[in-house]
Amino acid sequence: FCFPKPRNEPTKNYAPGSVERKLMRKKLSRQEKIKVEIPVIIGGKEVRTGKIREVTMPCDHGHVLAIYHEAGPKETELAIKEALLAKKEWESLHWTERCAVMLKVAELISNKYRYLLNAATMLGQAKNVHQAEIDAACESIDFLRFGAYQASYIYQWQPLQPHEYDCVNKMEYRPLEGFVLTISPFNFTAIALSLNSSVITMGNTTIWKPARTSLLSSYYLMKIFEEAGLPPGVINFLPGPGSEISEVALRNTNFAGLHFTGSTDTFNTLWKKLGENISKYKNYPRIVGETGGKDFIFAHYSADIHALATALVRGAFEYQGQKCSAASRAYIPKSIWKKLREILVDWTKNLSVGDVRDFKNFVNAVIDEASYKKIMGYIEKAKTSPNAKIIVGGNGDKRTGYYVEPTIIETNDPNFLTMNEEIFGPVLTIFVYEDERFEETLTLCDSTSSYGLTGSIFAKDRKAIEKAAKILRYAAGNFYINDKPTGAVVCQQPFGGARASGTNDKAGTYLNLIRWISPRTIKENL
Ligand code: ALA
Repeated sequence: FCFPKPRNEPTKNYAPGSVERKLMRKKLSRQEKIKVEIPVIIGGKEVRTGKIREVTMPCDHGHVLAIYHEAGPKETELAIKEALLAKKEWESLHWTERCAVMLKVAELISNKYRYLLNAATMLGQAKNVHQAEIDAACESIDFLRFGAYQASYIYQWQPLQPHEYDCVNKMEYRPLEGFVLTISPFNFTAIALSLNSSVITMGNTTIWKPARTSLLSSYYLMKIFEEAGLPPGVINFLPGPGSEISEVALRNTNFAGLHFTGSTDTFNTLWKKLGENISKYKNYPRIVGETGGKDFIFAHYSADIHALATALVRGAFEYQGQKCSAASRAYIPKSIWKKLREILVDWTKNLSVGDVRDFKNFVNAVIDEASYKKIMGYIEKAKTSPNAKIIVGGNGDKRTGYYVEPTIIETNDPNFLTMNEEIFGPVLTIFVYEDERFEETLTLCDSTSSYGLTGSIFAKDRKAIEKAAKILRYAAGNFYINDKPTGAVVCQQPFGGARASGTNDKAGTYLNLIRWISPRTIKENL
């Protein structure tokens, strides 16, 4: 049997006057008044290391949301022991029992903790209510439900010739031998969840290093897993410096896998470290990582201008351009540029920028000061370059929160810095090309960046769409036709890219789940 196919969790729209808006406001105002104490959690026990750090609000950096106890090498060693211990029981459970825990977590998020998780994501990661809802609530629930559903297929799939005259053959789906290190980013609460849930669904246990800048939502996720009945030690929660934690994990002989989402540089560093330690490990570890992007929108002259403008503004500026899928470079044919430019400038100027607690704000703060400085640095370079001009935005203000105006740069150089490097902020760079150079510019788009995550083609002309799909075949793991390159929905548009964007092991699908098993073939003579 298989679990019934789930439906994607419907989003709540928080319309003015709605019940959900009132409930969300209530939860937010309660949450902002308390200061949460976040411990390290190892083998189900809370550990207070006394090395205290603060979690502040990106929209209001004087506001402390939580304090956390920092984990270091000692706690990491302990967490590895507990993960190995817990694995014995956890892997011996029938897969339906593990899936039952995941489905229970989904139920708890959907019906009991939706507003709490959204509030933590809004205050802690500066997502407006709609961005929090599609991430912390809906995508988290989808990862859990579809994960269980797809695992049920894997576990019951016996592709072998089971009975060949004198023997019986079987495939046993073992988990990996050892523990898995999960490292999650700040930008999606659902990614923090799925990096762990996919691994443990297949019978593994993890030590989890959450991002410093999303600790509030990560901690609540951990508590929800516990409430759902996850046995102690299956996930061990280690807030602390990534370099110290990974150093200990990666030199442990039982290190069996890395499930990572974060920057390309960090992933490369970890991979090198892994390589240095390779002879120490009992097994060749599984490495699954999703990293950066320099995602594009490519328009043909036959494109619908309003649909294109909507995709550019939403793709580039929702969540302040801090989705790895965010549109950050665009190729626009000259014949539609004048009209498109007017619309873009008008719409972008009118986007309201401000605190997440005011629901009218579309653009909120970027995650922290380092990010603010990096983004403003790129904008300054565009301001002083003879090859670029800012057509809208270009200012920042970090007095209360880390606010960067949604900014559009026009460049005459297709290789300009901001066409090439990942900025991770609300900055879109546009290159205008001659209409007749459509094919040539597609080739240029393909070769400009080393990434391969997401991209879109806008055209009504079917031939143009086919040409783009062909030339850009390896430029994006998620390729969108007449849509923005963000907002992949679990099990509808499985997410991930290749090239410098990662290992493309599509999150939320069987393709990801099977990376966390190490099958055993069994033959029995009759
Ligand atoms: N999965 C996220 C999106 O598609 C990153 O926008």
